[in-house]
Amino acid sequence: MIPEPLRQKLELRVAGATTNREAAVDIMKELQRHYGWLTDEALEEASQLLGLSPVQVEELATFYEMIYRRPVGRHVVHVCDSISCWALGSETLLESLAHLLGIEPGSTTADGAVTLLPCSCLGNCGEAPCIMVGEKQYGRMTPQAGAQVIAALRGATEQPHTPEEGSNF
Ligand code: FES
Repeated sequence: MIPEPLRQKLELRVAGATTNREAAVDIMKELQRHYGWLTDEALEEASQLLGLSPVQVEELATFYEMIYRRPVGRHVVHVCDSISCWALGSETLLESLAHLLGIEPGSTTADGAVTLLPCSCLGNCGEAPCIMVGEKQYGRMTPQAGAQVIAALRGATEQPHTPEEGSNF
């Protein structure tokens, strides 16, 4: 169950939206920040806040790659595998990061620190190949630059899940 101040904040967001669907992604992202991923409980809470059925919220959650319906690590590294990034080496980048982390793409390190996920276009094709961690994008990535990003994540204080920067509201 979410704390009352967060509930009030989310209710205000819904009240300020033209339609409840418009607020849906923000609500799911905030609940995801709170729980670490969009748990069944979070999905139910989103459903109540938005006045949508759980099935409708599930459909929206499934549509957006940045909404996680499974547990993820404290950091989620998205590697774009759409055309521009693919043409400029995203496949090699993904393989190198997976090797570095000792996991397969789509999975999480044993210590729960990092989840590695291929993703669709991040809208930053001019900087291909791109990755995104939390709300932050990194462009013109090489395996070496990717390794530096991972090292920085590893060096970050490993604490329980806290809200990422760049909250939508
Ligand atoms: S194809 Fe990768 S950011 Fe667009």
